[in-house]
Amino acid sequence: MTRMLKEVLQEKLDVTEIDKLYSSFDIIGSIAIIKIPETLSSKKTLIADTLIEEIKSVKTVFSQVSAIEGDYRLRRLEFLSGENTPITIHKEHGSTFKVDVINTYFSPRLSTERLRISNLISPNEVIVNMFGGVGTFSIVIARNNRSSKIYSIDSNPIAYDLCKENTEINKLSNNVFPILGDAKEIIPKKLRGIATRVLMPLPEKAKEFVDSAVSSLVNSKGIVHYFAHVGAENKKNAIQSALLDTTASFGDINHTIRNVRVVREVGPRFYQIVSDVEVI
Ligand SMILES: C[S@@+](CC[C@H](N)C(=O)[O-])C[C@H]1O[C@@H](n2cnc3c(N)ncnc32)[C@H](O)[C@@H]1O
Repeated sequence: MTRMLKEVLQEKLDVTEIDKLYSSFDIIGSIAIIKIPETLSSKKTLIADTLIEEIKSVKTVFSQVSAIEGDYRLRRLEFLSGENTPITIHKEHGSTFKVDVINTYFSPRLSTERLRISNLISPNEVIVNMFGGVGTFSIVIARNNRSSKIYSIDSNPIAYDLCKENTEINKLSNNVFPILGDAKEIIPKKLRGIATRVLMPLPEKAKEFVDSAVSSLVNSKGIVHYFAHVGAENKKNAIQSALLDTTASFGDINHTIRNVRVVREVGPRFYQIVSDVEVI
């Protein structure tokens, strides 16, 4: 995608300006979100208009003007061009997601991970997704595993509402059960000892929720997909850091780490990882 953007901008920006463009941007449904360096800010409308002209599916362009922040993991966006709406429909692995790119978290860069986890599920599993967002992991898993039941918790009311809508859009109301609230409070009240598997896709904070995750497993045994951010010199070292981080987070809980993988690079020498942990 970067190459495409650079190619289309070749006639409008000089080489140094093109080089300054960040290496990637996201397309979510009909919305493009691009990071524009300060030095190119006078060209931001030109860049946004070019994107709309050249990429047929793009109807709206926002520039990302903050990091992903806060409990709801949101980024501030500045509208640049096209239809001024944060709402779009995104398709992934045959699932359809209604997304609000300003008021909810959504990343198309997790699509491989969603598919990977959905391929690990056995028949009749009961799954707790502690940080379900608009229903992304839950819906991809349920679509590919029709005998599974997934409780999809999120504390952001807008994400919860969209999760309910997405569950209906994808005709999965018998499989995905959206729940509004803080996972730490919901699990002891409603989901204690019921799950074969727990997803923890909140890498910034998952370590604070490990005890809650384990308490929702049947007899405190089962699989936990634990996400974290780790610092490392390179991708290979990130696996070692991930093993150390996971072992520390599970502390004296009896467990084996079945698999560790780097999901993506999230900054210089900073990686998002996932560990598939069996609690025994
Ligand atoms: C990184 S996002 C992941 C969302 C979703 N799993 C996805 O990949 O699209 C983390 C989500 O956790 C939610 N969240 C944060 N703290 C929470 C908590 N204590 N309990 C439940 N949800 C929480 C946020 O609102 C956000 O939607």
